[in-house]
Amino acid sequence: MYPSSRLSVAPMLDWTDRHCRYFHRKLSTQTLLYTEMVTTGAIIHGKGDFLAYNQEEHPLALQLGGSNPQDLARCAKLAQERGYDEVNLNVGCPSDRVQNGRFGACLMGEPQLVADCVAAMRDVVDIPVTVKTRIGIDDQDSYEFLTDFVSTVSEKGGCEQFTIHARKAWLSGLSPKENREIPPLDYPRAYQIKKDFPHLMVAVNGGVKTLDETLEHLQHLDGVMIGREAYQNPYILAEVDQKVFGLNTPIKKRKQIVEEMLPYIEQQLAKGAYLGHITRHMLGLFHNMPGARQWRRHISENAHKPGAGIEVVTAALAKIPADLDV
Ligand SMILES: Cc1cc2nc3c(=O)[nH]c(=O)nc-3n(C[C@H](O)[C@H](O)[C@H](O)COP(=O)(O)O)c2cc1C
Repeated sequence: MYPSSRLSVAPMLDWTDRHCRYFHRKLSTQTLLYTEMVTTGAIIHGKGDFLAYNQEEHPLALQLGGSNPQDLARCAKLAQERGYDEVNLNVGCPSDRVQNGRFGACLMGEPQLVADCVAAMRDVVDIPVTVKTRIGIDDQDSYEFLTDFVSTVSEKGGCEQFTIHARKAWLSGLSPKENREIPPLDYPRAYQIKKDFPHLMVAVNGGVKTLDETLEHLQHLDGVMIGREAYQNPYILAEVDQKVFGLNTPIKKRKQIVEEMLPYIEQQLAKGAYLGHITRHMLGLFHNMPGARQWRRHISENAHKPGAGIEVVTAALAKIPADLDV
């Protein structure tokens, strides 16, 4: 297992783009970062470079969406060539769009196909090939269903590492957003998988909001993946290097993170990036701090204006009380 899997930031479409990951990396040097899901179709047939990233983002995992073993193998190989540290297959997304393409959570119902996909990818790369899955789909929510999935994908496909979003997926009737709150989480199922498959690396995902909760899960499992909390309250990542990975480095202040983002922002603007595309990921940095609303508001009202540059960010930073050492 890649050591960084002890803690990761979840793949989140439209959220964990390269600007977001660069920002998260400023908060934690060790946390494993996932890309948004990229479909094999986009990589193989799309225009544009869907695998581009900044070297600073390592350790970095590419999440793929797809169910054709040859296509997945081709994309995994490209990912390895481009220097990604891991390739992950999405077996967790319940959206209709994804089901039509026959990938995402509906693949839990086809464990042999998932095993074939993993085996095809493992044949052509040396980096870890991992699977992100749910604990069940629709009425198929027994523990046996989950163990059958894990045993098929690990024994026949060779997958050694699973991240389990500890909530079953509803393939119809709920939006993906609703399906991130309902039905309830069932962490003991993920713990049980680790007990029954001790040779596998198992990480849990879903609803984790604090590092104390993270450390509690790590008593039972190999890893924890945090999604929405890491995005909406990114400063949670600031103490991960010390508390989860045991490093002895100083914990950075929020203001320092902003300062460290400025050269990157300038460099990206010079390449034609749009300020709002970078700063939107930073809005939650001062979550619950005095001045947080003014910080957000200044960025939200100004970052989209033509020609907006780093002065918008420094002016927003000035809204945080100067004597506040955060
Ligand atoms: C905006 C958004 C986009 C998401 N996109 C993906 C995705 O591309 N691939 C994936 O496997 N899961 C995706 N998810 C699900 C998350 O990876 C994660 O499993 C889920 O949010 C539960 O974790 P959390 O409670 O820590 O947020 C997405 C979640 C959100 C909020």
